[in-house]
Amino acid sequence: ETIEWDPEQAGKGEYDHFMLKEIHEQPTALTQALEGRIDPENERIALSDLDPETFTDVESVQLIACGTSYHAALYGSLALNQAGIQSTALLANEYSVSAPPTDDDTLVIAVTQSGETADTLSALRQANAEGATTVTVTNVVGSTAAREADEAVFIRAGPEIGVAATKTFSSQAVMLTLLGQCIAAEQHGEPPADLGSLLPELATMPDMLDDLLVDSGADLIAEQYADSQSYFFIGRGLGFSVALEGALKFKEITYEHAEGFASGELKHGPLALVTPDTPVFAVFTGEEDEKTLKNAEEAQTRGAPVVAVCPDGHRAVDVADAHLEIPETEPALAGLLANVQLQLVSYYAADLLDRPIDKPRNLAKSVTVE
Ligand code: G6P
Repeated sequence: ETIEWDPEQAGKGEYDHFMLKEIHEQPTALTQALEGRIDPENERIALSDLDPETFTDVESVQLIACGTSYHAALYGSLALNQAGIQSTALLANEYSVSAPPTDDDTLVIAVTQSGETADTLSALRQANAEGATTVTVTNVVGSTAAREADEAVFIRAGPEIGVAATKTFSSQAVMLTLLGQCIAAEQHGEPPADLGSLLPELATMPDMLDDLLVDSGADLIAEQYADSQSYFFIGRGLGFSVALEGALKFKEITYEHAEGFASGELKHGPLALVTPDTPVFAVFTGEEDEKTLKNAEEAQTRGAPVVAVCPDGHRAVDVADAHLEIPETEPALAGLLANVQLQLVSYYAADLLDRPIDKPRNLAKSVTVE
């Protein structure tokens, strides 16, 4: 008797797809990312990968990236702005034609899980040539980005096989949040005021994710709205980058139309598309949630079902048609939990539609052409 041995199936373990496995690996990935880097008791961050001088004289930050890494970069840039550092996230493929000027005081951070995306490498090379200090936030030791940037911070997420990036987004966003705190400390000569509350919450992120993953309820939501025409995702602040990422993930693997918007932009055009056939996933991160709720209600008035992604007991739960629960935490981290719920919704929706989840048509894990 011979036993059929499929190495690919073996790699997936108990999961049907690498994507689901990688979503479930996020608690471990974050534990690895944070290992030895945060010390909540003493309110300290230690990034030993970096030359201690890296952030001296940094006046502004540009983050360059593509795809899901761009959404992590946007998350990081909003976090930097909130920490008082002038920062912009830029699409790497637009960088050669529209980058703001750089000088010796500009820090350019290339965010790329593979470290091999041609667009991102090209922008990184441009920044190097212009004399900016460059850092890459990447998952791959020895990658081109890691070799060519002045400094590299490794997210230690472990291999990601699914084309749709999941765990690397979370780890990148967390590492950028830490970098932001380090840059702010350097610029202001003291750690940001909220570091004392952020670090203990960060340390419990893996546990919060474990809890969320045990019984997320995302499969039921995916089923409930499976036959819709279009899917909208809205959020504010850090939640805006999560809305964009939620929509990208959804379209990548379900092949259904999905769009992410800043909550406040809904009324400036997208409302024209809203019907009972366009569910709106509203992400609540504790950043002016009342306004986001009002924006969601405007869509609801036009017949759209609203799915609130928020903690239990949040006011949005009573207003919304459905609820995806996230644990209660700091606004700086709530978006990351919401994003995991949205990853799961995309996954289950794609599974219902029988899509080839790990290898969506026309997409590659790493795009090495411009
Ligand atoms: C491809 C992948 C995306 C990824 C993007 C950037 O388009 O399909 O999932 O986000 O490349 O990849 P990087 O390796 O630079 O993070």
